[in-house]
Amino acid sequence: MFSLKNNYHDYYAYKGRKVSKKISLSKKDLLEKSYNDFSYDSLIIEYHKSELLSNKIIFPKNYKKINLEIGFGNGEFLIKNAVSKPEELFIGVEVYLNGIAKVLKTISDFKLTNILLSNLNCSYFLPAISDKSVDRIFIINPDPWTKKRHHKRRLISYKIIKLLKQIIKTKDSIFITTDSESYLKDIKNLLSSFKETFGDYTVNIMAENDELYGISRYQRKAIEIGGKIYLLKL
Ligand SMILES: C[S@@+](CC[C@H](N)C(=O)[O-])C[C@H]1O[C@@H](n2cnc3c(N)ncnc32)[C@H](O)[C@@H]1O
Repeated sequence: MFSLKNNYHDYYAYKGRKVSKKISLSKKDLLEKSYNDFSYDSLIIEYHKSELLSNKIIFPKNYKKINLEIGFGNGEFLIKNAVSKPEELFIGVEVYLNGIAKVLKTISDFKLTNILLSNLNCSYFLPAISDKSVDRIFIINPDPWTKKRHHKRRLISYKIIKLLKQIIKTKDSIFITTDSESYLKDIKNLLSSFKETFGDYTVNIMAENDELYGISRYQRKAIEIGGKIYLLKL
């Protein structure tokens, strides 16, 4: 994987917090040996180089559902789902290399075959995916970037929503959770301003018995200090 990352650094780059704190030698070795078996990154880069629509990624057809999680962090939600639903495919996109290595280790320990990974920045991953090919998309507590001058770093933008809408099969299948009131307000403003393009959406405070409640480290951190978790569905 590292030669791909070095040669096409821009596709993996991320203007936010550091994406690769020190990585152990064993994780490095695992990434080098098996990452490419569970990733379409080289095909995605090929697509960007050619820009041929016929080179867009088509996922294997032998799964009941195709799920995509963007920014999976340490992969807790991705792994839990992949283990409990072997008949579905779970694709995880994450720029944080340690998160990728962690999931790869679990894939190897439990011999999972229904996970695909991408270390690419999702703004390069998403345009390469075939239209209407994904059943469900999850973005669980994306970085809130609380300082106003950092708001432009927020993941959810017009461009990203447009790409998500392009690849999803049906409406009400994109799930975004956040504990940040200010981020929620921004997303609602964006969706309301482009209602014609993006269609309707719903937003709710997540109930404690919701299957998405408390499912990640960031969510639990927010819950512990009394925060509410909002669920947007579009
Ligand atoms: C606040 S963390 C949340 C992690 C996890 N979903 C959770 O709730 O614990 C956001 C994650 O999104 C990842 N991320 C941010 N921007 C990204 C991008 N453009 N492409 C892929 N991953 C991204 C970050 O590396 C980080 O791990």
